[in-house]
Amino acid sequence: MSEARITVDPAFRVGPVDPRVYGSFVEHLGRCVYTGIYEPGHPRADQSGFREDVAELVRELGVPVIRYPGGNFVSGYSWEDGIGPMEERPTRLDLAWRSIEPNAVGTDEFCAWARRVGSDPMLAVNLGTRGPEAAARLVEYCNHPGGTYWSDLRVKNGTAEPHAVRVWCLGNEMDGDWQIGHKTADEYGRLAAETGKAMRLVDPSIELVACGSSNARMPSFGDWEATVLGHCYDYVDYVSLHSYYTGREHDRASFLACAIDMDHFIEAVIATADHVRAKGRHSKRINLSFDEWNVWHTLGYQPEGDWERAPRLIEDTYDLTDAVVAGNLLISLLRHADRVRMACLAQLVNAIGAIRSEPGGPSWRQTIFHPFALTSRHGRGTVLHTPVAAPEYDTAAFGPVPKADAVAVLSDSAGGVTLFAVNRDEHEPLPVVVDLRSLPALRVAHHTYLGDDEPSAANTQDAPDRIVPRAGADIPLDDGVLRVDLPPLSWNMLRISGAGR
Ligand code: AHR
Repeated sequence: MSEARITVDPAFRVGPVDPRVYGSFVEHLGRCVYTGIYEPGHPRADQSGFREDVAELVRELGVPVIRYPGGNFVSGYSWEDGIGPMEERPTRLDLAWRSIEPNAVGTDEFCAWARRVGSDPMLAVNLGTRGPEAAARLVEYCNHPGGTYWSDLRVKNGTAEPHAVRVWCLGNEMDGDWQIGHKTADEYGRLAAETGKAMRLVDPSIELVACGSSNARMPSFGDWEATVLGHCYDYVDYVSLHSYYTGREHDRASFLACAIDMDHFIEAVIATADHVRAKGRHSKRINLSFDEWNVWHTLGYQPEGDWERAPRLIEDTYDLTDAVVAGNLLISLLRHADRVRMACLAQLVNAIGAIRSEPGGPSWRQTIFHPFALTSRHGRGTVLHTPVAAPEYDTAAFGPVPKADAVAVLSDSAGGVTLFAVNRDEHEPLPVVVDLRSLPALRVAHHTYLGDDEPSAANTQDAPDRIVPRAGADIPLDDGVLRVDLPPLSWNMLRISGAGR
């Protein structure tokens, strides 16, 4: 087989895209918050000290939900440190990242900023060093209208209306021994159940995410999910997944196909959650929140710093190869739209961020920004089962894998289809035949792609637009069949409609 064949048929539906699958993540880590989203005194800072240049990029990225404040940070965090008059807030040691935490940004500032950039806040509670009382009080502070101690304190602190935070994470990566307050699955499962119960007593409308495994390579993976959900199934709505991918330098072939690993991870967690459902005779289904995912080349980083404020930590620079991989990971998430209802690109700014910023200086889009922004903007509607038959290449991690991967999303309003596709072949274009005969009204495909002669090309402060989306040709369909060549090592978007642009 020298060409790839993709079939798009609206009769075969996976499910609607939950826009929250295009979430991101802001942690008190390195320069994500301080000199990332927030930098009083910056020429583009607004009245609250948040950078308007970064906020503009966040709006353009299109992240309907943003997780906060961690990550590992949350497992040592006292949320009460980050509220009230600025001059009374304590400066603390952040043990997770060996940094100084000034607490200038806390729950009120973050929630207000998230709304200003068009996102819903998704808050994590500390289940490392704290428990149900602190978590329930935080829900009361954020969501109760008023007339009680914690809700009135929010009003006194300047936020009259509730923050109305809908989604809450019950801790972070509690299976990992690096986590402050790391727990066994039984310990965590019971704590998640009791904390979730207390939080729901404060606000029954909230949705809760239980911690799954920190990644699929954890020795307890599978058992962890089964045990934790065994304890807290009735109290939670989602189980989390985290995964970061690397290998650009040492095993490019496998790295380019790492979406296969994401597929396996998602399918294993679905199977485990459904096993607990069957065993416990539960009627509801637990869905998935893939609330940390990205490429991360400095993965395994151990903080050893000297207690700096806003240190430069894990500021990976992403290249074209990483952008193609990130775009492919989004294809994997969409392919499981029936169960993956939320996902967070980790992270938003500077620390493994889609956006970079310099203190006192400019901000710019990393390469991974582009496939994410375009998928978030155009990948709305109903995901279709999208069979791909493609020539294969060999990988050390997965054996022979297809050179192409793709997913189609049917637009509910316009009736068109958007096809997202990657060519993992670094050297050759890939001819693709897309069978759209089940959608006879479609006439033409508008092609946008990310590709370049130089796979290691990246966007930097000096060359912020080295890698940007390129417009391909408009391709007329021939009797419902689309023929397109995907450039070597490329991420592609084909917007297929009945008429011109
Ligand atoms: O996103 C960076 C870190 O990766 C998070 O703090 C942690 O949850 C994960 O291990």
